[in-house]
Amino acid sequence: MAIKLAIVGFGGVGQSLTQILQDREEMLRSEYGVEVIIVAVSDLMKGSVYDSTGLDIDTLFQCLQNQGTVDAYPDQDTVVKGWTSLETITNSNADVIVEATFTDVHTGEPAISHCLTAFKNRKSVITTNKGPVALAYRELADVAVQNQQFFGIEGTVMSGTPALRLPLETLSGNEIKEITGILNGTTNYMLCKMEKGLSYEEALKNAQNNGYAEADPTNDVEGYDARYKAVILANYVMGISLTPDEVECTGITGLTREDITKAGKDEETWRLITRIQRKNEEVTATVKPERISKSSPLASVQGAANAVIYDCDLAGPIMLTGAGAGLKETGFSLLIDLIHYRKQQALQKL
Ligand code: HSE
Repeated sequence: MAIKLAIVGFGGVGQSLTQILQDREEMLRSEYGVEVIIVAVSDLMKGSVYDSTGLDIDTLFQCLQNQGTVDAYPDQDTVVKGWTSLETITNSNADVIVEATFTDVHTGEPAISHCLTAFKNRKSVITTNKGPVALAYRELADVAVQNQQFFGIEGTVMSGTPALRLPLETLSGNEIKEITGILNGTTNYMLCKMEKGLSYEEALKNAQNNGYAEADPTNDVEGYDARYKAVILANYVMGISLTPDEVECTGITGLTREDITKAGKDEETWRLITRIQRKNEEVTATVKPERISKSSPLASVQGAANAVIYDCDLAGPIMLTGAGAGLKETGFSLLIDLIHYRKQQALQKL
């Protein structure tokens, strides 16, 4: 069974998935009976190429290395170049669109339009873009269902750590009353570094150099990134209809080194904590810096790691911790969505 992919947005995440697919080719074939063929790549900066029978991955990487563009792919009769992302989605013979564009988190575009176009053209979507999912999850999921398509979003929260699928698949039967977490790696890294004596500016610079921060780090330090993840968790895991403006949000910009030192003297530490609580019909959601005891489980989350605690009525509190960012981890989250697409397909749900 072949799955044909079109990758829209060929930055670090799209390239990471491509590399993983090449490295795991044999495993995908032997364990899942699937051959993944990349038929199209489209990127605003790097150009676009399409071959209905499949592009050669080594050649694609070679093009990036030599010329920095994918449309340096050697001319062949079968290769089409120069499509826009939308043309790649509508015109290609892909089964699944990997939506990995740089998307404005405030509008969710162009990713929202890409997802809708894909579903309406009977193609499934896997994405790590938070904007479209936080702003339009229900609309997108409805259109996916109407068109019998798969919508994979695992990497939108905690990258490759299965924060979304794990509670849905393994905790069903519980009511999840509260979700508490550290959902932004950049700020957690910064707070840990500031605890060790770095200034705010030095800590942010380091986080950017390590590739943890968003293109605009305001989204991290002001808590907007964690707020979007709160919305995704509420909608997807708790089934609560929550919008970003319903989440009370305070970032870490007001925290000084003095605040951090003072907390340390009391055996406490600062963390940017996300909470979504359901009490009867009332829902409250907050993202804000909190002083927590150094012996509490969330205080053990170091550096750019993330953690989430699902407070279940039957199973009690269950904590999941792992990477919240990183190219390999985010690429993996797309692989796991792809494997689930394959499983749904095998069940003839698609
Ligand atoms: N900037 C985000 C973070 C990346 O620091 O957690 C992953 O969403």
